[in-house]
Amino acid sequence: MNSKDQKVLVSTFEKEVSEGLTAFPKYLSSKFFYDEVGDALFQQIMELPEYYLTRAEYEIFEMHKSDIIQNFDVSNKGFDLIELGAGDGKKTKVLLQELLNQHYDFTYTPIDISENAITGLVKNLNTEMPKVTVRGQIGEYFEVLDRLKHISDRKKVIMVLGSNIGNLLHPRAIQFLKRLCNSMHVGDLLFMGFDQKKHPQKVLDAYNDKSGVTAAFNKNVLARINKELNANFNLDKFIHWETYDPESGTAKSYLVSKEKQTVDIDNLSLQVHFEAWESIHTEISQKYDDDIVKWLTKESGLKIEKSFSDQHNDYKDYLITKVE
Ligand code: AVI
Repeated sequence: MNSKDQKVLVSTFEKEVSEGLTAFPKYLSSKFFYDEVGDALFQQIMELPEYYLTRAEYEIFEMHKSDIIQNFDVSNKGFDLIELGAGDGKKTKVLLQELLNQHYDFTYTPIDISENAITGLVKNLNTEMPKVTVRGQIGEYFEVLDRLKHISDRKKVIMVLGSNIGNLLHPRAIQFLKRLCNSMHVGDLLFMGFDQKKHPQKVLDAYNDKSGVTAAFNKNVLARINKELNANFNLDKFIHWETYDPESGTAKSYLVSKEKQTVDIDNLSLQVHFEAWESIHTEISQKYDDDIVKWLTKESGLKIEKSFSDQHNDYKDYLITKVE
């Protein structure tokens, strides 16, 4: 691999692609999966028979909605419900409807980096649930949370659903939780989904579906590099590969080069060489149990108050508070 000339790397995408593909072993961050095509593929993933996570969390909400929301506003003084990475809001709507049915005093603030996602969701909620006060916020989670700190002094309930934390290794998950903790006051709540350890085959199947949608999702990062950085990855020369280690609870996704090849990334003035069967590590999807979640929260100045699980104990949502 060699750099053809010295070039100032501007965007995070350029910088991280360059770092990841010149490292040994090679890696790319899964945060780059999510352009318009990636968002659409992820929507498809959530409908796949193998991808149990979304259905399990939906089931938890349907089964325990009344119990869950009771914890959101024990003192009945009203609260702000804030969701990080809201997506299409399908699961959240179950809770919003129940909050309306039970006449809670609340506002809903979905936060996402994608303007598209937020405008779509706000529009949809204004039509489907006009009684909900929605304040969509576009931006990085923590920048928005800081902004909100100064806007309202009502109780905050912060939701992070979909086991999104699972895309971070434990040290980075702790950093994330610590930052959330810093943006909370004592009495605020964190409501967070953590996919649980289970039969290893079930995990593997969830990330290696028969129809190949997850493979296309994983390969989309290469398609993005082709489009945005003028590269010539041939997607057919890579396979999607999934592993799951039941001891650590870590599922890992890779792209594996089927042959020795060289790829040009023109905007980076970079040639990337692959040996046959060389890999690019692209994603981790961490699976948890109560002890791991207890440890992560303790390390971050937080503690678990309660948890809700689906019938099969595949998935859990935890109610978490700040330690006084
Ligand atoms: C967004 N995130 C929690 C998903 C997961 O399960 O790790 C992304 C995903 N990757 C492959 N399938 C779904």
